[in-house]
Amino acid sequence: MTRHVLDIDDLTRAELHAVLDRAAELKSGGRLQEDERPLENRTLAMLFEKPSTRTRTSFETGMTRLGGHAIFLGPDDIHLGHGEPIKDTSRALSGYVDAIMARLFDHEDAEDLAAYADVPVINGLTDDAHPCQTLADLLTIRERFGGFEDVSVAWVGDGNNVASSFAIGAAMVDLDLTVATPADYALDESVLDRCEAVGSAPATTTDPDAAIADADVIYTDVWVSMGEEDERDQKLAAFEGFQITADWIGDRELMHCLPAHRGEEVTDGAVEHSNSVVWQQAENRMHAQNGLLTWLLA
Ligand code: CP
Ligand code: NVA
Repeated sequence: MTRHVLDIDDLTRAELHAVLDRAAELKSGGRLQEDERPLENRTLAMLFEKPSTRTRTSFETGMTRLGGHAIFLGPDDIHLGHGEPIKDTSRALSGYVDAIMARLFDHEDAEDLAAYADVPVINGLTDDAHPCQTLADLLTIRERFGGFEDVSVAWVGDGNNVASSFAIGAAMVDLDLTVATPADYALDESVLDRCEAVGSAPATTTDPDAAIADADVIYTDVWVSMGEEDERDQKLAAFEGFQITADWIGDRELMHCLPAHRGEEVTDGAVEHSNSVVWQQAENRMHAQNGLLTWLLA
């Protein structure tokens, strides 16, 4: 059966650890020093309805490093969004490529893409989920702390796509997580149920101070996600008091999936703080995805 990764809980707990192990091994360079090209002659189609710096570049570079090839298909490059339905795009691409990575608005479109694809579909971010980011986040935490045991993370910000996948991933590796959001921007109940299904649901609060009190890591993301531009004023007002400043960091580490909107969810001083691990996290997108791609395809 073709495996798709539309969210992190499409992997089992054991598979998640296996992908992270493979990512760490590939990052250390072992396989590539042996001149292996695990994805030689394999092609990844990369469908983008939204912009991207990290996802596009890390997948494309990752495929090159693994000996394969990636094709960028932006919103103005193909017929998707200009009259051709996603199910037709899916079946046509399945005839050419070995896997499809897609960044789409509507998560149901990713489900449709997968339903009609004969090759693995990887979610490169939808309005609901960002599992590749979670893989990189967990790889980063594992590197920083040597594992997940006794590590406490505080998510401070929007209960959005990145938070949702991260909460489920955290539950899968038994990572201690507290999620602080304004009341109107909490994680969906369905996400908390999925956390329970794979481990434990995170503690939730509307008080960022309480969330970070015992945390080793503070993790945040933009308040206004791609596609939410019309909600900007309302969201900026709702998130007053949630901005991460350098003072909040202290001995803690700062994670951010990036792009960072300095002056909104974080200050410049926080992003540039010596305990900010955002660049390690960004680099790990590629290593984590290389782990996933080879696990799916090699
Ligand atoms: N974190 C992340 O997905 O970044 P991009 O939007 O730049 O791909
Ligand atoms: N929550 C953000 C993440 C960007 C990588 C968005 O969806 O725009």
